[in-house]
Amino acid sequence: MRKPFISANWKMNKTIEETGEFINSFLPMVKDVTDVDILIAPPVTSLQAAASLLKATNVKLGAQNVFYEEKGAFTGEISPGMLLSAGCSYVIIGHSERRQYFMETDEIVNKKIKTARKNGLEVILCIGESLKEREENKTFEVLERQLTGSLKDISLEGITIAYEPIWAIGTGKTATKEQANEAHAHIREWLNKNRKGADKTRILYGGSVTPENIKSLMAEPEVDGALVGGASLKPDSFAGIVKGARK
Ligand code: PGA
Repeated sequence: MRKPFISANWKMNKTIEETGEFINSFLPMVKDVTDVDILIAPPVTSLQAAASLLKATNVKLGAQNVFYEEKGAFTGEISPGMLLSAGCSYVIIGHSERRQYFMETDEIVNKKIKTARKNGLEVILCIGESLKEREENKTFEVLERQLTGSLKDISLEGITIAYEPIWAIGTGKTATKEQANEAHAHIREWLNKNRKGADKTRILYGGSVTPENIKSLMAEPEVDGALVGGASLKPDSFAGIVKGARK
């Protein structure tokens, strides 16, 4: 069985002070949770402070993005080595907001995953279709194209997939549990066909996950966890999601 995995994606929210406040109130709420893997991905400015508060706890630390070069003249970018030295063990790559606002293509995502894995970071790879693509019945085609491009020459070791239908992100419009399970099953089928060890790969759902809907999503056989934006910004709400994810 795959262990449930719940990750917060704070996006561009929370100062260092606010990060500390969140962690100090969140940790006691989840200290007894051993049957769910928990990850927080704050903005890069908060990583170091978060790392020192999370040391020796059951909550891991991740970043929301990384660059594909290891060092050099790339003003404003952050390398995998820098994330590791700030205390990260994970990085989210290919989030739809990065694809949409920062022109990240599958080719760039592929390069980022390669450099991250080479340096020992675990990766959460985000994929998902737009509303238009879903309405045109192109969901599976889009997922396959994203998987093929993003995972080119990459094994599944250290990779988690997050299925995030773009139309469900931050909209309050969750995919139904059936829609999520169907997409996850299709992703797993692709992984099984094209890579080794696909039955161990966790596939998270993302898009308007809340403490209220997590249980029914997790009841689906192919949903192994969630990547949570808005509802991860408050300690009690995120703790509710973590606890609701127990299978
Ligand atoms: P949301 O965001 O939970 O606010 O919909 C999810 C995500 O973008 O990862």
